[in-house]
Amino acid sequence: MVTRSMSRLLQGVVLMSVITGNVLPLAPAMAQSDAADKVVVAHRGASGYLPEHTLPAAAMAYAMGADFQEQDVVMTRDDQLIVWHDLTLDRNTDVRHQFPGRARDDGRHYVIDFTLEELRQLRVTEGYRLNDAGAEEMIYPQRFPLWQSTFTIHTFAEQLQMIQGLNRSTGRDVGIYPELKSPAFHHEHGKDIGMAVLSELKRFGYTSKDSNVFVQTFEFDELKRVKEEVLPALDIELKLVQLMGDDESYAWMLAPGGMRELAQYADGIGPEKGMIISYESTPNNLQISSLVRDAHQAGLKVHPYTFRADDGQVPGYADDFEHLLEIFLFEANVDGLFTDFPDKAVDYLSER
Ligand code: G3P
Ligand code: CA
Repeated sequence: MVTRSMSRLLQGVVLMSVITGNVLPLAPAMAQSDAADKVVVAHRGASGYLPEHTLPAAAMAYAMGADFQEQDVVMTRDDQLIVWHDLTLDRNTDVRHQFPGRARDDGRHYVIDFTLEELRQLRVTEGYRLNDAGAEEMIYPQRFPLWQSTFTIHTFAEQLQMIQGLNRSTGRDVGIYPELKSPAFHHEHGKDIGMAVLSELKRFGYTSKDSNVFVQTFEFDELKRVKEEVLPALDIELKLVQLMGDDESYAWMLAPGGMRELAQYADGIGPEKGMIISYESTPNNLQISSLVRDAHQAGLKVHPYTFRADDGQVPGYADDFEHLLEIFLFEANVDGLFTDFPDKAVDYLSER
């Protein structure tokens, strides 16, 4: 049977070099992993359905069958770890109303300037921005309505307690995928978020490479420090993932030998998905970079971000969200992916 993916290959998929942009001949059959080996990472919980990084969003993602739950982690003024994506509070809370006068000169309210007790008073909502008239506009208009119901900020420990509790009550073994958010910013403020998060993981029993956790960060300097200093100091070993975006600071990783160098410190990479399949691709000309192949040759897992099913978020080269998943998982051969819609990825993989 000729599958849709095979048909697309026959239509003329090209393998592009992410470094040179040169079109290369299609690589000979690369080893493909099966659906059962691919992992679904719930990105900020089931954030396509409920406000991101709330406990209800994490519980929903768990119930949807995600293999891993992502936690972005930020530190408070009193050195507590909270599950939160931004360094600031303005996109998802009512902080400007509850704490007038607490913004920095740039007009934003920073998590690191607030205590946990203060942060717990905030009301959390779906992401929004203020338009020129000062009115709130949802970033993803079809998502959960602004200010509906009651959501609050919680700690990293509270989320780990919930996931471990669910693992106990369901008999499943769902993993966690914490991100050290902006370590350099935390260091500038006298806070060692790497040590704090890794210590918490140890306290919760995540201590070896077999533990069901990947620790991720965009900052290579911190990844290296975690590998060489923090993990040894705690006498534990964990799987580490280097996140990457399409900018100059990651160029050396994409250059010849870069992945092998990175593999001395990391167990996987988390690239922005456009680094794997160019947004310039069309349905008949899918431009797949050498990134997955290079990473696999270096022994690294590949978990790209972020897969969203909202209107306007599926690139034009894919027919729909499921087709996008198929292209990444079975043509580009990634090992898993971060998605705001974990149910769709779980259903797609189980049907396949
Ligand atoms: O950590 C993977 C992905 O979440 C990276 O982007 O900005 O959503 O943390 P961001
Ligand atoms: Ca993240």
